Amino acid sequence: MAKKILILNGSPKKDGNTSIMVGWFTDAIKSRAEIEIVNTAFLKYKVNGCISCRKCQKIEKYECCIDDDAKTVLVKMADADVIVFATPLYFFGASAQIKLVFDRMFSLYKWDNDAGTMKTPLKGKTMVVLASAFEDIGLDALEKPFSLTADYTGMKFESVLAANAGTSGEIIQKRPDVRQQLESLGAKIIEV
Ligand SMILES: Cc1cc2nc3c(=O)[nH]c(=O)nc-3n(C[C@H](O)[C@H](O)[C@H](O)COP(=O)(O)O)c2cc1C
Repeated sequence: MAKKILILNGSPKKDGNTSIMVGWFTDAIKSRAEIEIVNTAFLKYKVNGCISCRKCQKIEKYECCIDDDAKTVLVKMADADVIVFATPLYFFGASAQIKLVFDRMFSLYKWDNDAGTMKTPLKGKTMVVLASAFEDIGLDALEKPFSLTADYTGMKFESVLAANAGTSGEIIQKRPDVRQQLESLGAKIIEV
């Protein structure tokens, strides 16, 4: 069965470097995978990020209790084999547009603090980070919260980080080599 790849694009630039990276990645795998792309910059929310209401911890289902677009994305995350977070570097971190969805992932975990246990349907999936930056400092800082979360969750982790990619759209001229990296990553992900 074809792998389900959910790509969350956290850039507000529809034709920017993040979208180009997503395009190169999907071109490499589209004949062999079921791909869905969600642009998180254009989702509609009822709250500004996770509001820590913790209602999700009191129900059996792994779902957010706030009924907005993030809730729909979270259902797709639980259903995917591979979750891709694609983002520009914004002040040495991921974009706020991706972080809004990332924090709402709280509802996909159940913690029992007395027993010291954590359960999540994300365990065993693969997390991928695709990111670009104008300069060559900071992409490691961007990657860290994602790789730590993947490790904590029991997910496999992969990334392609494109430093010196210029401003939106310039990655084509400045880092054409990134396309090959994304093709290699695509092949690896489909094979696993
Ligand atoms: C708000 C904002 C913050 C940025 N912060 C950084 C930064 O800290 N370091 C850097 O190298 N580039 C920074 N950039 C540049 C972008 O990360 C870079 O141009 C990226 O490839 C743009 O991707 P996009 O076209 O998908 O938006 C920033 C751009 C914006 C708009």
